[in-house]
Amino acid sequence: MEKEELQAIASQLKHPTGEKGIEMANMMHETNINMTRHSVQNLNISVGNTILELGHGNAGHAAFIFEQAENLKYYGLEMSELMFREARQINRNFVSQKQAFFSVYDGNTIPFEAASFDKIFTVNTLYFWQKPEELLSEIYRVLKPCGNFCLTFAEESFMKTLPFTQFEFELYSTEKALKLIEKTAFKIVYTENQTEKVKSRTGELVDRAFTTIVLEK
Ligand SMILES: C[S@@+](CC[C@H](N)C(=O)[O-])C[C@H]1O[C@@H](n2cnc3c(N)ncnc32)[C@H](O)[C@@H]1O
Repeated sequence: MEKEELQAIASQLKHPTGEKGIEMANMMHETNINMTRHSVQNLNISVGNTILELGHGNAGHAAFIFEQAENLKYYGLEMSELMFREARQINRNFVSQKQAFFSVYDGNTIPFEAASFDKIFTVNTLYFWQKPEELLSEIYRVLKPCGNFCLTFAEESFMKTLPFTQFEFELYSTEKALKLIEKTAFKIVYTENQTEKVKSRTGELVDRAFTTIVLEK
């Protein structure tokens, strides 16, 4: 594959735009649903929780979140205007019932008051954070005391086998992510490493190693 093609894939994953962005979001939803479900399940969502997700893509998984408990509120934050619109369209029923709320932000400053959320999670976005330590502090700020944050990402050992990750991506091993977290006020509750089978871009099944780190304020 040409360098330009690889670069284009990387920038669509980082910031989906245009026609191709919608296709990419559908593909991400299918490929990453197991990681997303895993992240959500590790949050131990309970009745009445207010939940924040950073970088939800098309948020085709929002219905799964609402299955976790009664009377939830889900807030989605994206940097991509296209993903914000797609997510709002796909989840229009939840939006009109004032159960789901979507907005766009700059990727650095979370536009909510301190202690707004019981649970926060993000899947496959860590690679693109511009200021990781600052964003973690922002997540800490908007989390309620004793609230949980679940960080889910694919391991560097797997990601570096994908040729497009040489562009736009900052790759993380579990150790590197834990080092970053240790610079913050978060308590590390536990870390889980899993391997799953996913379809590669050429169609064959490959093993993807991914990690979920559960944190507490
Ligand atoms: C690789 S996609 C992952 C989408 C979905 N979470 C998944 O796993 O299928 C990354 C998404 O995160 C968004 N994104 C990138 N940097 C972000 C940041 N700092 N905060 C929130 N979203 C971000 C992108 O716009 C994109 O929609």
